[in-house]
Amino acid sequence: MIIAANFKMTHTKKQTEEFLEATSKFIKDENIKNRAIVFPPFTALDRYDYQNVTVGAQNGYPKESGSYTGEIGAEQLEDLNIKTILIGHSERRHVIGESQEFIASKFEFFKERGFFIVYCIGEPLSVKERGIEATLEYNFAQLEGIDLNYPKFIVAYEPVWAIGTGVSATNEDIEEIHAKLREKISRPLLYGGSVKPNNIEEILNIPNVDGALIGTASWKVEDYCKMLKTKN
Ligand code: PGA
Repeated sequence: MIIAANFKMTHTKKQTEEFLEATSKFIKDENIKNRAIVFPPFTALDRYDYQNVTVGAQNGYPKESGSYTGEIGAEQLEDLNIKTILIGHSERRHVIGESQEFIASKFEFFKERGFFIVYCIGEPLSVKERGIEATLEYNFAQLEGIDLNYPKFIVAYEPVWAIGTGVSATNEDIEEIHAKLREKISRPLLYGGSVKPNNIEEILNIPNVDGALIGTASWKVEDYCKMLKTKN
């Protein structure tokens, strides 16, 4: 299983260092086989050297470097040995306003650089309420322009209405969508959206769920470690 933590806009550098140190020690002491990926904010990135925890970037601009005020390019990420990136997260799509075209260009750019990509898709509530056909169509549209044969990417299905709300999708919803995604994508499929210590086990037991992308409930290291141990 792949158990990923998305810090979003939380945690300082020091808190991140402590989190990574505790997580790495936990993985070693408890002989955890699940794969840990942590996405701290840019200001907490560094040249971390853990063999058992992958540290990734929550975002990146699809250029090597240049005049893009406020952005971080491949040069900055690679300088810190960061070769894992989150692309297409719903907060970047719906809060920041990134288009599918722009997101696909990021995927292409970081693919060319050989990054491991965690690619997020997911429908808002208004689409879910229109039924399964509309939901699938919306999610598939978020795969437009994405090279599904790229061997170094995985998908996180994260329904927007389940993110940060405390209300996860039902097991039936997750099973149905993941089965349809599996027909198109042979890479690991994560579920995200209000995954927490008390529901992660049943979610990871759903067919075609290969891991979880966790926001809020991953921010406390004890909870993240507890979840890392699930289905180990
Ligand atoms: P959540 O966030 O676990 O707080 O719902 C998930 C995500 O945004 O990746």
